[in-house]
Amino acid sequence: MLKIGVLVSGGGTNLQAIIDSIESGYIKNAEIVTVISSNPEAYALKRAEKHGISGICIRKRDFQGNEEFLKALEEHLESLGVELIVLAGFMTVLGKSFTEKYKNRIINIHPALIPSFCGDGFYGLKVHEAALEKGVKITGATVHFVNEETDGGPIILQKAVNVEDNDTPETLQRRVMEQAEWKIFPEAVKLISEGKIMVEGNKVRRLL
Ligand code: GRF
Repeated sequence: MLKIGVLVSGGGTNLQAIIDSIESGYIKNAEIVTVISSNPEAYALKRAEKHGISGICIRKRDFQGNEEFLKALEEHLESLGVELIVLAGFMTVLGKSFTEKYKNRIINIHPALIPSFCGDGFYGLKVHEAALEKGVKITGATVHFVNEETDGGPIILQKAVNVEDNDTPETLQRRVMEQAEWKIFPEAVKLISEGKIMVEGNKVRRLL
């Protein structure tokens, strides 16, 4: 059983998609052992509680510096034997030493087709605003391994979503979540838990 720690900051709909996929049996070889939030008010913590998953708030501002924060985070993850760290809307940058320590063991979901509309400053509605501003006809979501570069690690899965003429950032965000994020994030967890993902340099190979 792959032990997963999910890091969140907000609503937690992606966390919910993973919980649902485990409860339905779509994901068979993984369990969420902790949900860690950078925000004590995050609705994601309530979602965890409702499903009997223990949640905790570990936020940077409660520590003297970044090192102390990361140490606390690591200690918590290690104490539970977390093998895969899932960033599901986690709004704190983890930095080089952390991402190197957990190389190819941290995954993130980004609400665009990387390398479009990604990197520093592209988060939340800003991603969809930029896509509409550019006038792209197709956007989507990307699940990738996390390295020190924002949205820069090896790409695991991507799914395209159509942009409609009268979209607002909000309608586009919703469609990207429904049609792409809530599908490919659980799928990536499933594939990793079944040992079907191999990383070769910057490329991910899917084993049959
Ligand atoms: C999602 O759009 C995800 O792509 C991005 O942050 C948002 C989190 O939403 N990384 P939720 O908390 O899972 O509802």
